[in-house]
Amino acid sequence: MLPSHLNGHSPLARRRPQLPAASPPATAGDPPAAAGDAALEAHDRVYFQSYSHIGIHESMIKDRVRTDAYREAIMLHQKFIEGKVVMDVGCGTGILSVFCARAGAKRVYAVDASEIATQASEIVKANNLADKIIVIHGRVEDVDVEEKVDVIISEWMGYMLLYESMLPSVLFARDKWLKPGGLILPSHATLFMAPITNSDRYEGSVDFWCDVYGINMSALVPLAKKFASEEPSIEIVGGENVISWPFVVKHIDCYTFTVEEFKSITTTYKVSSMMLAPIHGFGLWFEVEFNGPAESCSNLSSDSSPLDIIQKKRCRASDSTVVLSTAPEDEPTHWHQTILYFPDPIGVTQDQIIEGSVTITPSEENPRCLNIHLECSTGGQNLVKDFAMR
Ligand SMILES: C[S@@+](CC[C@H](N)C(=O)[O-])C[C@H]1O[C@@H](n2cnc3c(N)ncnc32)[C@H](O)[C@@H]1O
Repeated sequence: MLPSHLNGHSPLARRRPQLPAASPPATAGDPPAAAGDAALEAHDRVYFQSYSHIGIHESMIKDRVRTDAYREAIMLHQKFIEGKVVMDVGCGTGILSVFCARAGAKRVYAVDASEIATQASEIVKANNLADKIIVIHGRVEDVDVEEKVDVIISEWMGYMLLYESMLPSVLFARDKWLKPGGLILPSHATLFMAPITNSDRYEGSVDFWCDVYGINMSALVPLAKKFASEEPSIEIVGGENVISWPFVVKHIDCYTFTVEEFKSITTTYKVSSMMLAPIHGFGLWFEVEFNGPAESCSNLSSDSSPLDIIQKKRCRASDSTVVLSTAPEDEPTHWHQTILYFPDPIGVTQDQIIEGSVTITPSEENPRCLNIHLECSTGGQNLVKDFAMR
Protein backbone atom coordinates (compact mmCIF):
# COMPACT_ATOMS: atom_id res chain seq x y z
CA MET A 1 0.00 0.00 0.00
CA LEU A 2 1.47 3.35 -0.95
CA PRO A 3 1.39 5.93 1.83
CA SER A 4 -0.76 8.85 0.73
CA HIS A 5 2.08 11.37 1.12
CA LEU A 6 4.00 9.50 -1.56
CA ASN A 7 1.17 9.55 -4.00
CA GLY A 8 0.48 12.20 -6.58
CA HIS A 9 -2.74 14.12 -6.36
CA SER A 10 -3.77 14.24 -9.98
CA PRO A 11 -7.40 13.43 -10.73
CA LEU A 12 -6.02 10.73 -13.00
CA ALA A 13 -4.56 8.84 -10.03
CA ARG A 14 -5.26 5.19 -10.64
CA ARG A 15 -6.36 3.60 -7.48
CA ARG A 16 -4.78 0.38 -8.56
CA PRO A 17 -5.39 -2.44 -6.11
CA GLN A 18 -4.07 -2.10 -2.61
CA LEU A 19 -1.91 -5.13 -2.08
CA PRO A 20 -1.15 -6.42 1.41
CA ALA A 21 2.57 -6.92 2.03
CA ALA A 22 1.98 -10.44 3.28
CA SER A 23 -0.97 -12.75 2.82
CA PRO A 24 -3.47 -12.07 5.60
CA PRO A 25 -5.22 -15.18 6.87
CA ALA A 26 -8.80 -15.57 5.66
CA THR A 27 -11.30 -14.93 8.43
CA ALA A 28 -14.92 -15.96 8.78
CA GLY A 29 -15.96 -12.32 8.34
CA ASP A 30 -14.24 -11.89 4.98
CA PRO A 31 -16.72 -11.18 2.19
CA PRO A 32 -16.65 -13.54 -0.75
CA ALA A 33 -14.48 -12.03 -3.48
CA ALA A 34 -14.37 -14.23 -6.47
CA ALA A 35 -15.41 -17.48 -8.00
CA GLY A 36 -13.48 -20.42 -6.63
CA ASP A 37 -12.63 -18.35 -3.56
CA ALA A 38 -11.64 -21.33 -1.47
CA ALA A 39 -8.77 -22.05 -3.82
CA LEU A 40 -7.51 -18.47 -3.92
CA GLU A 41 -4.43 -17.41 -2.02
CA ALA A 42 -5.35 -14.81 0.59
CA HIS A 43 -3.41 -12.08 -1.21
CA ASP A 44 -5.27 -12.87 -4.42
CA ARG A 45 -8.56 -12.64 -2.55
CA VAL A 46 -7.68 -9.08 -1.49
CA TYR A 47 -6.47 -8.31 -5.01
CA PHE A 48 -9.65 -9.46 -6.73
CA GLN A 49 -11.82 -7.77 -4.10
CA SER A 50 -10.15 -4.47 -4.90
CA TYR A 51 -11.36 -4.84 -8.49
CA SER A 52 -14.96 -5.16 -7.37
CA HIS A 53 -14.98 -1.43 -6.53
CA ILE A 54 -16.31 0.84 -9.23
CA GLY A 55 -13.73 3.59 -8.57
CA ILE A 56 -10.84 1.60 -9.99
CA HIS A 57 -12.76 0.88 -13.21
CA GLU A 58 -13.88 4.50 -13.43
CA SER A 59 -10.30 5.80 -13.27
CA MET A 60 -9.11 3.28 -15.87
CA ILE A 61 -11.95 3.90 -18.30
CA LYS A 62 -11.76 7.69 -17.89
CA ASP A 63 -8.08 7.53 -18.84
CA ARG A 64 -8.62 8.27 -22.53
CA VAL A 65 -4.96 7.68 -23.42
CA ARG A 66 -5.36 4.11 -22.19
CA THR A 67 -8.87 3.32 -23.38
CA ASP A 68 -8.51 5.00 -26.79
CA ALA A 69 -5.23 3.15 -27.38
CA TYR A 70 -7.00 -0.18 -26.86
CA ARG A 71 -9.96 0.83 -29.04
CA GLU A 72 -7.63 2.05 -31.82
CA ALA A 73 -5.57 -1.14 -31.60
CA ILE A 74 -8.71 -3.25 -31.95
CA MET A 75 -9.78 -1.24 -35.00
CA LEU A 76 -6.26 -1.46 -36.47
CA HIS A 77 -6.47 -5.25 -36.26
CA GLN A 78 -10.16 -5.43 -37.19
CA LYS A 79 -9.46 -7.52 -40.29
CA PHE A 80 -7.79 -10.14 -38.09
CA ILE A 81 -10.48 -10.00 -35.38
CA GLU A 82 -13.53 -10.20 -37.67
CA GLY A 83 -15.18 -13.61 -37.42
CA LYS A 84 -12.61 -14.80 -34.86
CA VAL A 85 -12.66 -15.99 -31.25
CA VAL A 86 -11.23 -13.64 -28.61
CA MET A 87 -10.31 -14.09 -24.97
CA ASP A 88 -10.33 -10.94 -22.79
CA VAL A 89 -8.08 -11.80 -19.82
CA GLY A 90 -9.33 -9.73 -16.86
CA CYS A 91 -12.34 -8.19 -18.60
CA GLY A 92 -13.36 -5.95 -15.67
CA THR A 93 -16.51 -4.13 -16.79
CA GLY A 94 -16.20 -5.86 -20.18
CA ILE A 95 -15.30 -2.72 -22.11
CA LEU A 96 -12.57 -4.35 -24.25
CA SER A 97 -14.82 -7.35 -24.94
CA VAL A 98 -17.55 -5.00 -26.19
CA PHE A 99 -15.01 -3.19 -28.43
CA CYS A 100 -13.94 -6.58 -29.87
CA ALA A 101 -17.53 -7.75 -30.40
CA ARG A 102 -18.36 -4.46 -32.13
CA ALA A 103 -15.25 -4.92 -34.30
CA GLY A 104 -16.81 -8.15 -35.57
CA ALA A 105 -15.45 -10.90 -33.30
CA LYS A 106 -17.48 -14.10 -33.63
CA ARG A 107 -17.22 -14.89 -29.93
CA VAL A 108 -15.50 -13.26 -26.93
CA TYR A 109 -14.69 -15.11 -23.71
CA ALA A 110 -14.61 -12.33 -21.10
CA VAL A 111 -12.88 -13.71 -18.01
CA ASP A 112 -12.56 -12.01 -14.64
CA ALA A 113 -12.04 -13.39 -11.15
CA SER A 114 -13.46 -10.29 -9.46
CA GLU A 115 -17.11 -9.76 -8.58
CA ILE A 116 -17.14 -7.07 -11.29
CA ALA A 117 -17.82 -9.99 -13.68
CA THR A 118 -21.45 -9.91 -12.48
CA GLN A 119 -21.81 -6.33 -13.73
CA ALA A 120 -19.90 -7.19 -16.91
CA SER A 121 -22.64 -9.77 -17.70
CA GLU A 122 -25.32 -7.13 -17.24
CA ILE A 123 -23.43 -4.67 -19.46
CA VAL A 124 -23.13 -7.32 -22.16
CA LYS A 125 -26.90 -7.98 -22.03
CA ALA A 126 -27.77 -4.27 -21.99
CA ASN A 127 -25.77 -3.87 -25.21
CA ASN A 128 -27.43 -6.85 -26.89
CA LEU A 129 -24.19 -8.77 -27.13
CA ALA A 130 -25.09 -11.79 -25.02
CA ASP A 131 -24.99 -13.97 -28.14
CA LYS A 132 -21.34 -13.02 -28.72
CA ILE A 133 -19.74 -12.33 -25.35
CA ILE A 134 -19.57 -15.11 -22.78
CA VAL A 135 -18.65 -13.71 -19.37
CA ILE A 136 -16.86 -16.21 -17.16
CA HIS A 137 -16.41 -15.41 -13.48
CA GLY A 138 -13.15 -17.04 -12.42
CA ARG A 139 -9.38 -16.94 -12.63
CA VAL A 140 -8.12 -17.45 -16.14
CA GLU A 141 -5.87 -20.16 -14.68
CA ASP A 142 -8.95 -22.11 -13.53
CA VAL A 143 -11.62 -21.55 -16.18
CA ASP A 144 -12.53 -23.86 -18.98
CA VAL A 145 -13.57 -22.69 -22.41
CA GLU A 146 -14.74 -24.91 -25.23
CA GLU A 147 -12.25 -23.87 -27.88
CA LYS A 148 -8.87 -22.33 -28.55
CA VAL A 149 -8.88 -18.62 -29.33
CA ASP A 150 -7.44 -16.49 -32.16
CA VAL A 151 -6.88 -13.35 -30.12
CA ILE A 152 -5.93 -12.60 -26.52
CA ILE A 153 -6.54 -9.07 -25.30
CA SER A 154 -5.72 -7.88 -21.82
CA GLU A 155 -5.01 -4.70 -19.92
CA TRP A 156 -2.57 -6.18 -17.42
CA MET A 157 -0.11 -3.33 -16.83
CA GLY A 158 0.42 -2.07 -13.29
CA TYR A 159 2.46 0.81 -11.95
CA MET A 160 5.95 0.66 -13.50
CA LEU A 161 4.49 -2.02 -15.76
CA LEU A 162 5.07 -4.98 -13.48
CA TYR A 163 3.30 -4.11 -10.20
CA GLU A 164 0.27 -6.39 -9.63
CA SER A 165 2.08 -9.19 -11.49
CA MET A 166 -0.84 -9.85 -13.81
CA LEU A 167 1.38 -10.60 -16.81
CA PRO A 168 1.94 -14.27 -15.79
CA SER A 169 -1.83 -14.82 -16.05
CA VAL A 170 -1.79 -13.52 -19.63
CA LEU A 171 1.18 -15.77 -20.45
CA PHE A 172 -0.71 -18.70 -18.92
CA ALA A 173 -3.73 -17.94 -21.13
CA ARG A 174 -1.45 -17.61 -24.17
CA ASP A 175 0.16 -21.00 -23.58
CA LYS A 176 -3.14 -22.75 -22.85
CA TRP A 177 -5.67 -21.09 -25.14
CA LEU A 178 -4.04 -19.18 -28.02
CA LYS A 179 -3.96 -20.86 -31.43
CA PRO A 180 -0.59 -20.86 -33.25
CA GLY A 181 -0.28 -17.60 -35.20
CA GLY A 182 -2.80 -15.89 -32.92
CA LEU A 183 -2.77 -12.21 -32.00
CA ILE A 184 -1.90 -10.81 -28.53
CA LEU A 185 -2.92 -7.26 -27.65
CA PRO A 186 -0.77 -5.62 -26.44
CA SER A 187 2.07 -7.49 -28.09
CA HIS A 188 5.16 -5.77 -26.70
CA ALA A 189 5.97 -3.81 -23.55
CA THR A 190 9.07 -1.80 -22.62
CA LEU A 191 10.01 -0.56 -19.15
CA PHE A 192 12.23 2.54 -19.17
CA MET A 193 14.19 4.26 -16.42
CA ALA A 194 16.18 7.51 -16.08
CA PRO A 195 17.64 9.69 -13.33
CA ILE A 196 15.39 12.59 -12.44
CA THR A 197 15.73 15.92 -10.68
CA ASN A 198 12.77 17.26 -8.71
CA SER A 199 13.79 20.01 -6.29
CA ASP A 200 10.22 21.22 -5.72
CA ARG A 201 9.16 17.80 -4.59
CA TYR A 202 12.20 17.33 -2.36
CA GLU A 203 11.85 20.77 -0.78
CA GLY A 204 8.10 20.20 -0.29
CA SER A 205 8.48 16.98 1.66
CA VAL A 206 11.97 17.15 3.24
CA ASP A 207 13.18 20.76 3.51
CA PHE A 208 9.61 21.70 4.51
CA TRP A 209 10.33 20.53 8.06
CA CYS A 210 13.12 23.09 8.62
CA ASP A 211 10.66 25.93 9.07
CA VAL A 212 7.03 25.10 9.83
CA TYR A 213 5.00 28.20 10.74
CA GLY A 214 8.29 29.63 12.10
CA ILE A 215 8.99 26.48 14.15
CA ASN A 216 12.23 24.58 13.57
CA MET A 217 11.06 20.99 13.07
CA SER A 218 14.24 19.78 11.39
CA ALA A 219 14.30 16.89 13.87
CA LEU A 220 11.77 15.37 11.46
CA VAL A 221 14.06 15.66 8.41
CA PRO A 222 15.70 12.21 8.86
CA LEU A 223 12.24 10.66 9.18
CA ALA A 224 10.97 12.53 6.13
CA LYS A 225 13.99 11.32 4.11
CA LYS A 226 13.48 7.77 5.32
CA PHE A 227 9.81 7.66 4.35
CA ALA A 228 10.26 9.54 1.08
CA SER A 229 12.83 7.01 -0.07
CA GLU A 230 11.40 3.79 1.37
CA GLU A 231 8.68 3.12 -1.15
CA PRO A 232 8.35 4.11 -4.77
CA SER A 233 6.26 7.23 -5.27
CA ILE A 234 3.52 7.33 -7.88
CA GLU A 235 3.43 10.83 -9.30
CA ILE A 236 3.63 12.81 -12.49
CA VAL A 237 6.97 14.20 -13.60
CA GLY A 238 7.59 16.05 -16.85
CA GLY A 239 10.26 15.71 -19.52
CA GLU A 240 12.09 18.62 -17.86
CA ASN A 241 12.67 16.47 -14.75
CA VAL A 242 14.50 13.78 -16.69
CA ILE A 243 18.24 14.43 -16.76
CA SER A 244 19.59 11.78 -19.13
CA TRP A 245 18.39 9.62 -22.00
CA PRO A 246 16.34 6.79 -20.53
CA PHE A 247 17.63 3.24 -20.58
CA VAL A 248 15.62 0.09 -21.16
CA VAL A 249 15.10 -1.99 -18.02
CA LYS A 250 13.17 -4.69 -19.87
CA HIS A 251 11.64 -5.24 -23.27
CA ILE A 252 8.91 -7.87 -23.25
CA ASP A 253 7.68 -9.69 -26.33
CA CYS A 254 4.33 -11.07 -25.17
CA TYR A 255 4.49 -13.76 -27.86
CA THR A 256 7.62 -15.33 -26.39
CA PHE A 257 8.20 -14.00 -22.84
CA THR A 258 8.10 -16.65 -20.10
CA VAL A 259 6.95 -16.66 -16.47
CA GLU A 260 10.48 -17.78 -15.57
CA GLU A 261 11.93 -14.54 -17.00
CA PHE A 262 9.48 -12.54 -14.89
CA LYS A 263 10.92 -13.91 -11.63
CA SER A 264 13.93 -11.58 -11.62
CA ILE A 265 14.68 -8.74 -13.98
CA THR A 266 18.13 -7.16 -13.80
CA THR A 267 19.80 -4.62 -15.95
CA THR A 268 22.99 -2.59 -15.75
CA TYR A 269 23.03 0.99 -17.04
CA LYS A 270 25.44 3.77 -17.92
CA VAL A 271 23.98 7.13 -18.85
CA SER A 272 25.34 10.64 -19.15
CA SER A 273 23.78 13.64 -17.42
CA MET A 274 22.47 16.27 -19.81
CA MET A 275 22.75 19.07 -17.22
CA LEU A 276 24.17 20.38 -13.97
CA ALA A 277 21.53 19.31 -11.44
CA PRO A 278 20.89 17.39 -8.25
CA ILE A 279 19.65 13.85 -8.94
CA HIS A 280 16.75 13.17 -6.57
CA GLY A 281 16.11 9.66 -7.74
CA PHE A 282 15.12 7.55 -10.73
CA GLY A 283 11.87 7.58 -12.66
CA LEU A 284 10.32 4.51 -14.29
CA TRP A 285 7.65 4.38 -16.98
CA PHE A 286 6.52 2.08 -19.75
CA GLU A 287 5.13 1.81 -23.23
CA VAL A 288 3.11 -0.98 -24.80
CA GLU A 289 2.60 -1.67 -28.50
CA PHE A 290 -0.14 -3.52 -30.28
CA ASN A 291 1.46 -5.54 -33.10
CA GLY A 292 1.08 -8.91 -34.74
CA PRO A 293 3.69 -11.58 -33.97
CA ALA A 294 5.87 -10.65 -36.94
CA GLU A 295 5.43 -6.89 -37.06
CA SER A 296 7.26 -5.50 -34.07
CA CYS A 297 9.04 -2.23 -34.59
CA SER A 298 10.64 -2.61 -31.18
CA ASN A 299 13.79 -4.56 -30.89
CA LEU A 300 14.87 -2.72 -27.78
CA SER A 301 17.01 -4.34 -25.14
CA SER A 302 18.93 -3.18 -22.13
CA ASP A 303 21.85 -2.52 -24.52
CA SER A 304 19.79 -0.16 -26.66
CA SER A 305 21.49 3.19 -27.13
CA PRO A 306 19.63 6.50 -26.94
CA LEU A 307 19.84 6.52 -30.75
CA ASP A 308 18.05 3.15 -30.90
CA ILE A 309 15.31 4.57 -28.68
CA ILE A 310 14.89 7.70 -30.85
CA GLN A 311 14.89 5.61 -34.02
CA LYS A 312 12.28 3.35 -32.55
CA LYS A 313 10.05 6.36 -31.76
CA ARG A 314 10.52 7.69 -35.31
CA CYS A 315 9.81 4.29 -36.80
CA ARG A 316 6.58 4.05 -34.87
CA ALA A 317 5.52 7.61 -35.66
CA SER A 318 5.79 6.81 -39.36
CA ASP A 319 4.01 3.50 -38.85
CA SER A 320 0.40 2.65 -38.24
CA THR A 321 1.41 0.99 -34.96
CA VAL A 322 -0.63 1.92 -31.88
CA VAL A 323 1.52 2.77 -28.86
CA LEU A 324 0.29 3.44 -25.33
CA SER A 325 2.97 5.51 -23.61
CA THR A 326 3.26 6.57 -19.98
CA ALA A 327 6.48 8.54 -20.57
CA PRO A 328 7.03 11.90 -18.83
CA GLU A 329 7.08 13.71 -22.20
CA ASP A 330 3.72 12.25 -23.24
CA GLU A 331 0.17 12.98 -22.12
CA PRO A 332 -0.27 11.89 -18.47
CA THR A 333 -2.11 8.69 -17.75
CA HIS A 334 -3.54 7.31 -14.53
CA TRP A 335 -0.34 5.23 -14.18
CA HIS A 336 1.67 8.44 -13.76
CA GLN A 337 5.38 7.66 -13.41
CA THR A 338 7.00 5.70 -10.60
CA ILE A 339 9.80 7.49 -8.76
CA LEU A 340 12.50 5.91 -6.60
CA TYR A 341 13.65 8.80 -4.42
CA PHE A 342 17.12 8.90 -2.86
CA PRO A 343 17.33 9.91 0.84
CA ASP A 344 19.70 12.72 -0.22
CA PRO A 345 20.22 14.26 -3.65
CA ILE A 346 23.46 13.61 -5.53
CA GLY A 347 24.82 16.54 -7.56
CA VAL A 348 25.96 15.90 -11.14
CA THR A 349 27.49 18.11 -13.81
CA GLN A 350 26.76 18.06 -17.53
CA ASP A 351 28.09 14.92 -19.26
CA GLN A 352 28.84 13.22 -15.91
CA ILE A 353 28.45 9.45 -16.12
CA ILE A 354 25.83 7.82 -13.91
CA GLU A 355 26.01 4.03 -13.81
CA GLY A 356 24.86 1.05 -11.84
CA SER A 357 22.21 -1.65 -11.90
CA VAL A 358 18.59 -2.27 -11.05
CA THR A 359 16.92 -5.56 -10.10
CA ILE A 360 13.16 -6.06 -9.87
CA THR A 361 11.73 -9.16 -8.21
CA PRO A 362 8.23 -10.07 -7.07
CA SER A 363 8.07 -10.12 -3.27
CA GLU A 364 8.17 -13.57 -1.67
CA GLU A 365 5.37 -12.74 0.79
CA ASN A 366 3.04 -11.43 -1.89
CA PRO A 367 4.21 -11.95 -5.47
CA ARG A 368 1.93 -9.13 -6.66
CA CYS A 369 4.20 -6.67 -4.78
CA LEU A 370 7.68 -5.80 -6.02
CA ASN A 371 11.13 -5.42 -4.49
CA ILE A 372 13.53 -3.12 -6.28
CA HIS A 373 17.27 -3.12 -5.67
CA LEU A 374 19.04 -0.05 -7.04
CA GLU A 375 22.77 0.61 -7.30
CA CYS A 376 24.07 3.94 -8.52
CA SER A 377 27.60 5.39 -8.82
CA THR A 378 28.50 8.82 -10.07
CA GLY A 379 31.42 11.18 -9.49
CA GLY A 380 32.85 8.96 -6.75
CA GLN A 381 29.55 8.74 -4.85
CA ASN A 382 27.85 5.37 -4.44
CA LEU A 383 24.30 4.58 -3.47
CA VAL A 384 22.78 1.16 -2.80
CA LYS A 385 19.09 1.23 -1.94
CA ASP A 386 16.23 -1.24 -1.64
CA PHE A 387 12.63 -0.21 -2.27
CA ALA A 388 9.52 -2.20 -1.50
CA MET A 389 6.44 -1.55 -3.62
CA ARG A 390 3.57 -2.83 -1.47
C1 LIG B 1 -6.51 -3.50 -15.01
S1 LIG B 1 -8.06 -4.29 -14.93
C2 LIG B 1 -8.63 -4.18 -16.59
C3 LIG B 1 -10.13 -4.26 -16.73
C4 LIG B 1 -10.66 -4.11 -18.14
N1 LIG B 1 -10.06 -5.07 -19.04
C5 LIG B 1 -10.45 -2.72 -18.67
O1 LIG B 1 -9.63 -2.56 -19.58
O2 LIG B 1 -11.08 -1.79 -18.18
C6 LIG B 1 -7.56 -5.96 -14.72
C7 LIG B 1 -8.68 -6.94 -14.43
O3 LIG B 1 -8.14 -8.24 -14.52
C8 LIG B 1 -8.71 -9.06 -13.53
N2 LIG B 1 -7.74 -10.16 -13.32
C9 LIG B 1 -6.44 -10.05 -12.91
N3 LIG B 1 -5.86 -11.26 -12.89
C10 LIG B 1 -6.79 -12.15 -13.30
C11 LIG B 1 -6.80 -13.57 -13.47
N4 LIG B 1 -5.71 -14.30 -13.22
N5 LIG B 1 -7.93 -14.17 -13.88
C12 LIG B 1 -9.04 -13.43 -14.13
N6 LIG B 1 -9.11 -12.09 -13.96
C13 LIG B 1 -8.00 -11.45 -13.57
C14 LIG B 1 -8.90 -8.13 -12.34
O4 LIG B 1 -9.91 -8.63 -11.48
C15 LIG B 1 -9.30 -6.83 -13.06
O5 LIG B 1 -10.70 -6.71 -13.17
